[in-house]
Amino acid sequence: MSATIRKKRLSPKAIEAMKGERPIASLTAYTTPIARLLDPHCDLLLVGDSLGMVLYGMDSTLGVTLDMMIAHGQAVMRGAENACVIVDLPFGSYQESKEQAFRNGARIMQETGCDGVKLEGGEEMAETVEFLVRRGIPVFGHVGLMPQQVNTVGGFRTLGRGDEEADRIRRDAQAIANAGAFAVVIEGTVEPLAREITAALAIPTIGIGASAACDGQILVCDDMLGIFEDFTPRFVKRFATLAPQISDAAKTYAQEVKARSFPGPEHVMGAKPRS
Ligand code: KIV
Repeated sequence: MSATIRKKRLSPKAIEAMKGERPIASLTAYTTPIARLLDPHCDLLLVGDSLGMVLYGMDSTLGVTLDMMIAHGQAVMRGAENACVIVDLPFGSYQESKEQAFRNGARIMQETGCDGVKLEGGEEMAETVEFLVRRGIPVFGHVGLMPQQVNTVGGFRTLGRGDEEADRIRRDAQAIANAGAFAVVIEGTVEPLAREITAALAIPTIGIGASAACDGQILVCDDMLGIFEDFTPRFVKRFATLAPQISDAAKTYAQEVKARSFPGPEHVMGAKPRS
């Protein structure tokens, strides 16, 4: 028998049970080395379709494909031992029917080995969420600002200011919880509403640009690491500022290559000693 005991990742049920216990720390991850670094500290790693914008330079998440999500899901799974790993269903892979959602959700689960899938939507997706959960696919919901609906909502903006909009978000969150989701992201939603929804739901809410009262928080990893030099949304706190460090390292490297000071004798094999 092998002496190595593989640690088990947190399950969606364990994440659900954390409501009322302690805040849930979540980050996005898209690659193996980053997953390895985040995994010991995070409860949940999300392979978000934000990877389209963060890694591929797209203007929105709409161009992200199922194959991209599966490739990055597999990469993150190679680096995660402790955290619950959830992979986003990308735009167009689940909205058509609950059968389409099951087929693609099952493919993500089978090909990546992840712990569940996330999908965006409220009341209109509740039947789909129930269909998936009853057939063995844990679902992480996502309400409030839904980036896959950027074209019908009219851009990325904070939602829930008017009564009608607030009421819709309230109903969306409740519908996804009633349908059996194990947790729900509340994105880009005014603070009092996110707080109220958190108090009303039996499942954990994970906030991004929402409220400190949410049951957990999530940020896009590259945002919180400060990998971008340009625009940082107000809800992002930079826990590191890597952009200037990366840029300085590249500058020094290029200077050394051009000056022939890199590689030095210690970086090459079988070099003749300098006379
Ligand atoms: O795609 C993503 O990264 C997300 C999080 C920001 C919640 O949906």
